[in-house]
Amino acid sequence: MKKKIAVIGYGGQGGWHCKQILKSDVAELAGIYDINPARGQLAKEDNIHVYESADALLKDTDIDAVVVATPNDSHKELVIRALNAGKNVICEKPVEVSVEAFDEMCAAAERAGKLFTVHQNRRWDVDFLAMKQIIGSGQIGDVIRIESRIHGSRGIPSDWRGTKAQGGGMILDWGVHLIDQVLQLFEKDKIQKVYCNTTNITNKEVDDGFRLNLYFENGKTAYIEVGTYNFLAMPRFYLQCENGSALISDWTKKAHVAKLKAWNEKDVLPVQTAAGITKTMAPRDEVTLDEYDIERPLSDVHDFYRNFCAALDGKEEMLITHKQVRRVLRVMELAFESSEQGQAVDCNV
Ligand SMILES: NC(=O)c1ccc[n+]([C@@H]2O[C@H](COP(=O)([O-])OP(=O)(O)OC[C@H]3O[C@@H](n4cnc5c(N)ncnc54)[C@H](O)[C@@H]3O)[C@@H](O)[C@H]2O)c1
Repeated sequence: MKKKIAVIGYGGQGGWHCKQILKSDVAELAGIYDINPARGQLAKEDNIHVYESADALLKDTDIDAVVVATPNDSHKELVIRALNAGKNVICEKPVEVSVEAFDEMCAAAERAGKLFTVHQNRRWDVDFLAMKQIIGSGQIGDVIRIESRIHGSRGIPSDWRGTKAQGGGMILDWGVHLIDQVLQLFEKDKIQKVYCNTTNITNKEVDDGFRLNLYFENGKTAYIEVGTYNFLAMPRFYLQCENGSALISDWTKKAHVAKLKAWNEKDVLPVQTAAGITKTMAPRDEVTLDEYDIERPLSDVHDFYRNFCAALDGKEEMLITHKQVRRVLRVMELAFESSEQGQAVDCNV
């Protein structure tokens, strides 16, 4: 039987959840509640049931689960209220701004004996899945470094995302996705050092971008960058491995792989530059390098709800676990700490 899900917050993302749940093969939409009556009115016009209050929604015994899709500063209170009311909960990202607050939410879930997870939906992004596939297949060997970037040019949105008290800023908005993705790729490697610079080009109160370096044990590194003032974008992903490299130039593009066939070269054609010739930096040819694209992996965002509903029935483990979410939050805390101190911070995360 389909699970009944209600959504708190009918803004951009709450609207997205409603649209998906209405098409879902495992869930149906019970209704929404939004603190802003105008948003409630819009939901009514979309033929969606609107609860009069959060309490009315939480008292509805027909509801199996609640999605919390409100601004970041309201997540903790709403999630704990929903759990205490006996509901299972999906919370939007970032679940909270601190590990401490998240632990309070997990403790409430534990007490209530309810499922509580976070919508880290960019684990289903095709570009990320392509990187995961290349690394997982071992086709270019072990990872040395991964670089993940998102570049926009319109500054930070002019809503609550520009306000510190509401959990604004790009580390919390986009960083949480990119860090989550990278930590999925480095699930078993401990981070020993974090170094982060934030930018404040269009907004002085919160970061409108950041550059984050993660240093793992065994020498692996990751670089994560979000910019909102980049009029030309850097590649979405760059992967350096022991036997080759891979690059995704843009999230609509296929991954391009360069696989080393032989290290030694006989006749390197030098590149002519104004300062002279270079063989060191000359590109390789097909004798020692294989270059190919990989097909874009298939992805279905509904797999998130399928997994959640199967977990409600005890048939699957939740894919997005508290341990993973806590690790991402800790990295974000360390990123803020490093940026404030202007230096790298040691850790064991
Ligand atoms: N996972 C994703 O891809 C993704 C994408 C966008 C946003 N989000 C997340 O979703 C959440 C909401 O973002 P958004 O872009 O929809 O914001 P939004 O401003 O478009 O919508 C938020 C809505 O919540 C309502 N609201 C505020 N406080 C409330 C309360 N106490 N009770 C009920 N309703 C309340 C507002 O009236 C508004 O309609 C944020 O946590 C954001 O980070 C996630």
